[in-house]
Amino acid sequence: MSKTIDMEVLASLCKRRGFIFQSSELYGGINGFWDYGPLGCELKRNVKDAWWKTMVRAREDVVGLEASIIMHPAIWKASGHADGFADPMVDCKECRKRFRADQLCEEQGLALIKNGSAFALPADAACPACGSKNLTEPRSFNLMFKTFVGPVEDESNLAWLRPETAQAIFAQFNNILATARQKVPFGVAQMGKSFRNEINPRNYTFRSREFEQMELEYFIRPDEAVKLICGRVATLADNPDLAGEPQADWGWEVWHRYWVEQRLAWYRAIGLPAADLNQHWQTGDELAHYARACVDIEYAFPFGVQELEGIAARSDFDLSQHQKHSGKQLDVFDEALKQAVDRLDADAKDHCTQRIVAAWTGRGKSGEEARAFAVKLYEGKYVPHVIEPSAGTDRLALALLCNAYDEETITDEKGKTDQRTVMRFHPAIAPIKLGVFPLVKNKPPLYAKAREIFAKLQRRWPCFWDESGAIGRRYRRMDEAGTPWCVTVDFQTLDDGTMTLRDRDSMKQVRLGISELIEKMDAEIG
Ligand code: GLY
Repeated sequence: MSKTIDMEVLASLCKRRGFIFQSSELYGGINGFWDYGPLGCELKRNVKDAWWKTMVRAREDVVGLEASIIMHPAIWKASGHADGFADPMVDCKECRKRFRADQLCEEQGLALIKNGSAFALPADAACPACGSKNLTEPRSFNLMFKTFVGPVEDESNLAWLRPETAQAIFAQFNNILATARQKVPFGVAQMGKSFRNEINPRNYTFRSREFEQMELEYFIRPDEAVKLICGRVATLADNPDLAGEPQADWGWEVWHRYWVEQRLAWYRAIGLPAADLNQHWQTGDELAHYARACVDIEYAFPFGVQELEGIAARSDFDLSQHQKHSGKQLDVFDEALKQAVDRLDADAKDHCTQRIVAAWTGRGKSGEEARAFAVKLYEGKYVPHVIEPSAGTDRLALALLCNAYDEETITDEKGKTDQRTVMRFHPAIAPIKLGVFPLVKNKPPLYAKAREIFAKLQRRWPCFWDESGAIGRRYRRMDEAGTPWCVTVDFQTLDDGTMTLRDRDSMKQVRLGISELIEKMDAEIG
């Protein structure tokens, strides 16, 4: 259920309060680029910290990577991005505006015509800006930003800004395996900037040209290895609720579902309501040719239900591509597999090879490839398969902003009504955790006590000191920043050390001492 908030109103609050600014605004802006202001950068940092904590630090089977943005161009040849990472683009011959052909058709309830890898527009398609039907045929436009490494601007020095963080994980797979003391199944996580030269950046920060990703590549055994080691491959039917820890007999389907569930639980834990999260299981044409399954986790934005994260089962496609293009082995030796195959006699291996050949040829692969895979298996080796949960940090920050935004009419004890805008962030995500106010600023002992309390709390969490204006106005300012709590230090604090704690959402006030306050905040921030 999408919230009915006006994106212009939200964007104006984001600008006014310092969440998000247009990039280069001083010079008229630059389309598709955004800056996070003082509150926005804290919000985004909290999102990334929460992801890193859950995906890396809280797990024994995931390690991190921070790779360079510009990498060897051969990586993008191997990954397929150099040749295939393109969107179909059309120009209006009348008003000269440019559009993405698939989006233009979708918005007009039409289907873009696909002829192999080429596209054609249906006859009814019209320019969304001027209505003319005088449009060019769609042309493929590669989304990668180009640059040159070194002073000479020629083809041999051409490089790309990475369009995803994922590929560096595959390219560094051997180094990570050699140093991290991990065995399959294990994962490598990376977050950082990626760049796509979108034809039509739109929906505020949702589709930007420079953005951040949070990606995990979780490497698993191929099902054939699981079968040899465990004698069976567990399916979703055996594990409908995925309760408990991952098991050695899980096949790719169960691992894929496991990550979908893990990721949905995380989105709920940082405050997105389950009712606004949707799972879209890609089918047929939507699936990339190498993907066995892909689920989009979507959020009901005010401008429509849109993807926050894709969770793809990518088989061994990526590592195999890099193995082929680099000429280096990217397989692993699995001791448990070697022990299992050493127990097989020649007949059992033949039988196993036949099963593998039948299954692979059924999926359109060659018998030769299947036999080569089986030979490797009997040496205890395989190229790991991968499950990829890939999330957009900026999209998530936008979802959290949309979800948090609320306008409320409040009535005081005297019956006077007032309007407040409140950003109801989860405390873990809120940019400022606590506002600290001295009741008055012209009483030195009270002021000094408030400063002392502020200094103590600021060592633990981002806090905001505000001494100006009526207390009510100070609360309103903190409500707009999404600060979950405010404390006011008053004369009673000087006597018994207690302060008034005001809750952002209920606006209720209680008195408590500093240790109770710290305990409460620790518990709620998590
Ligand atoms: N690695 C998947 C993506 O960037 O969408």
